[in-house]
Amino acid sequence: MNPFIITGYNSPAYFCNRKKELESLLNAVENNRHVTLFSIRKLGKTGLIHHLFYHLKKDKEISTFYIDIMPTRSLAEFVNVLGTAIIGKLDPKPLQIIKNAGKHFSHLRPQINFDPLSGSPNVSFLAQNENDTKQILSELIGYLKKQSNKNKIVIAIDEFQQIKAYKESNVEAFLRSHFQQLKNVVFIFSGSQKHMLLSMFGDARYPFYNSTELMHLSNIISKDYNKFISKKFTENKIDFPPTLIDDLLEWTYGRTFNVQFVCNKLFGLGISKIEKLHLNKIFLEILIENEALYYNLRSIVPAQQWNLLTAIAMEQGAGSLFSKEFINKYKMGATSTVKRSVEGLLNKELIYEENNKYYVNDVFFSRWLETHK
Ligand SMILES: Nc1ncnc2c1ncn2[C@@H]1O[C@H](COP(=O)(O)OP(=O)(O)O)[C@@H](O)[C@H]1O
Ligand SMILES: [Mg+2]
Repeated sequence: MNPFIITGYNSPAYFCNRKKELESLLNAVENNRHVTLFSIRKLGKTGLIHHLFYHLKKDKEISTFYIDIMPTRSLAEFVNVLGTAIIGKLDPKPLQIIKNAGKHFSHLRPQINFDPLSGSPNVSFLAQNENDTKQILSELIGYLKKQSNKNKIVIAIDEFQQIKAYKESNVEAFLRSHFQQLKNVVFIFSGSQKHMLLSMFGDARYPFYNSTELMHLSNIISKDYNKFISKKFTENKIDFPPTLIDDLLEWTYGRTFNVQFVCNKLFGLGISKIEKLHLNKIFLEILIENEALYYNLRSIVPAQQWNLLTAIAMEQGAGSLFSKEFINKYKMGATSTVKRSVEGLLNKELIYEENNKYYVNDVFFSRWLETHK
């Protein structure tokens, strides 16, 4: 088995470090503190939640629920996802979900749908209108309240900022007032949109203000990642010198998904000694595989924005985008144009800002841009 997981979570053996983060989360759960977990994309938030749940599952007194609300567009869909997770926990088989819904909830009228592509069944709850939706949620909350009298419950809601985009009004206040009724339930709200999450939880004008502990996830420390990678290759009798692992970590900017992906491919070569030429081969292969996507983007993104994007990739953490020096170096035109381009790129989530520096969001794309200026 390839020890470098690139989708989902397997077990601690395939998970690098995050010891301190795990400890803080365990402590928060134990002491009933809610947590907001945030970082840029693909750094390991979802992985960390599953890692936490793996450890919590040893404790029979704690029930865990994970929902990813990225695909949801409304409170009605949120309720479907939450309801399916809760009832699915009793018994995940679709028919049993329907039975259990009838048994435990009076307002839930479940329906089985079959995904037209995969053919796999999923359950949704028929809500005719907003009122129905709110009733169903109240019922689910009531159920959680009852359950949490018996044992602690941890609910992780991934990509939580998505509720900002729901079409119903006052969703935040509505959810907050319901969640607040739950005393023995710990919530972990996770997401990639730092600014949005920080305003939801850190701005006194919003309902979730000050209701959680904020936890920012950073890169896995290079030294630890180097050791982890080295160990996995050594265990499989593959020689991968630590200095080359450092090169890999640098090329991927230590971004978890990208590190895992390159390691997965290197492992897949099935050779017993990894040399610089193999690294370069994989780097090139990845860029070529994605190239069609990048060219497509180039045809969509306005030229000014594309130029700025390239400049940001070249600078690897561009600071003063509006300085004369930067503007002259990359022939960016007027300051106002740069400002507009920054906005455009941030909105498209092609770049992100951290500590007043700008970065291209996708590491492989960033590396490609550098070589196609
Ligand atoms: N500590 C870790 N060790 C090894 N792989 C990890 C670790 N954290 C995350 N991953 C892997 O990295 C990829 C991206 O992580 P994910 O948790 O999906 O990021 P996020 O939720 O922040 O976007 C996933 O494929 C996951 O399996
Ligand atoms: Mg995630």
